[in-house]
Amino acid sequence: MRVGILTSGGDCQALNVTMRGLAKTLYRNVNDIEIIGFLQGYKGLMYEDYKIMKPKDFSGIINIGGTILGTSRCPFKKMRVIEDDFDKVAAMKNTYAKLKLDCLVVLGGNGSIKSANMLSQEGLNVIALPKTIDNDTWGTDYTFGYQSAIDIATTYLDQIHTTAASHNRVFVIEVMGHKVGHICLSAGIASGADVILLPEIPYDIKEVAKAIKTREKNGKKFSIIACAEGALSKEEATLSKKEYKAKVKARNGQSVVYEIAAELEKYIDSEIRVSCIGHAQRGGQPCPYDRMISTQFGVAGARLVMGGDYGKLVILKNNGVTAIPLVESAGKLKYVDAVGAKVKDAKLLGISFGD
Ligand code: F6P
Repeated sequence: MRVGILTSGGDCQALNVTMRGLAKTLYRNVNDIEIIGFLQGYKGLMYEDYKIMKPKDFSGIINIGGTILGTSRCPFKKMRVIEDDFDKVAAMKNTYAKLKLDCLVVLGGNGSIKSANMLSQEGLNVIALPKTIDNDTWGTDYTFGYQSAIDIATTYLDQIHTTAASHNRVFVIEVMGHKVGHICLSAGIASGADVILLPEIPYDIKEVAKAIKTREKNGKKFSIIACAEGALSKEEATLSKKEYKAKVKARNGQSVVYEIAAELEKYIDSEIRVSCIGHAQRGGQPCPYDRMISTQFGVAGARLVMGGDYGKLVILKNNGVTAIPLVESAGKLKYVDAVGAKVKDAKLLGISFGD
């Protein structure tokens, strides 16, 4: 049996541990198994850039972040676009056939799952494993990397907390999450943030200022605002997709936290500072929870391979690892529920969402 494997999109801490779970299970339970690792994500499959893996490649990597195969972003919307006479989909199918693969295992987030689904519909045997620190893959309660990212973001917010308190400052801190705010919501709650700004709950800067002033009146002269990369104001929420994109582009890559801090300055007297956690949230070692659940995800992926049960995405549902058809998840995002229990509880506790 020949199994291809690739890691695609933004990396996370738990890619290696997931591959280890998959590979160890396959080497142990399938006679005559060969695993082919494609380098730098779908690019490796397109350009026949691969490595024939050995069991030792998957050894000693349970606690190592990043990916032993490398990764890259190959946007789904460009997959079918012919560039420089190069047909990416045909090239991937060609490599798959040439190497006589029995199946392809893709470790990836939403865009990568869409591409995996496309390849499945093109007739390849594909299985996907749900990776992303953002935890926004539709159909699964958990994506590997999420808890490690929460841990890092929480530690960072904790550290800002002490310096903010010493100086009586207001901090606006960027947490990863362009389209969804799961990391920001979780790390915000876990670190005791005073305000949490998410893409799913448009804010009014006056409400944010009000929350800070109320704290001041109650003797708390500092405040922590945990702000997702994609946080947006109520006015921005009324813009068309095109107008909003143009507005984000005009920031020239600068974080939204600078804009929020500048707006806030008009309404409060306290000193304001901004801070961005950035890619550290995707780096370093996987936390123990990620190691445990990713191992299970890897084993579940191997089970699907061994059973010839293709066209599936491994998921976590109600604390059990299972699988759903790729097509069910592809193209959908799992957003923070703005009126869900987690947000409601945070509000009851006194956290402001600026709405
Ligand atoms: O895919 C997860 C993610 O970390 C997002 O939260 C973040 O907005 C983005 O990737 C950053 O991507 P890049 O690595 O391309 O800068």
